[in-house]
Amino acid sequence: MALYSEKVMEHFRHPRNAGMIEDADGIGEVGNARCGDIMKIYLKIEDDIIVDAAFETFGCGSAIASSSMATELIKGKPVSEALTLTNQAVVEALDGLPPHKVHCSVLAEEAIRKAVQDYYSSKQNRGV
Ligand code: FES
Repeated sequence: MALYSEKVMEHFRHPRNAGMIEDADGIGEVGNARCGDIMKIYLKIEDDIIVDAAFETFGCGSAIASSSMATELIKGKPVSEALTLTNQAVVEALDGLPPHKVHCSVLAEEAIRKAVQDYYSSKQNRGV
């Protein structure tokens, strides 16, 4: 069996939603201290729906594929649903990751959660 699924390779080679969102409503950045990889997720939110999501990932191929898949999974979804996205769901959507690469998908879960928290706290600050 190949080390990486075709889906992982495809999302790595042609990442969806790569880049940033200038006027993002929530931004979440996380890093993994062991490998040094960094993932940043941008969310554009209207009426509690994620209308757009983007990422900047400085990391391995699995982290890029995870960011790409995770942003695809949450686009068009309510914020509350994005909060429940697990790294396991990202791994499944990618048709699996090698065991030593599962931590890369955890970055996606954490970055999205952080971006949503950022959205909630800036909403509070604006008194909305
Ligand atoms: Fe660190 Fe993939 S090796 S995120």
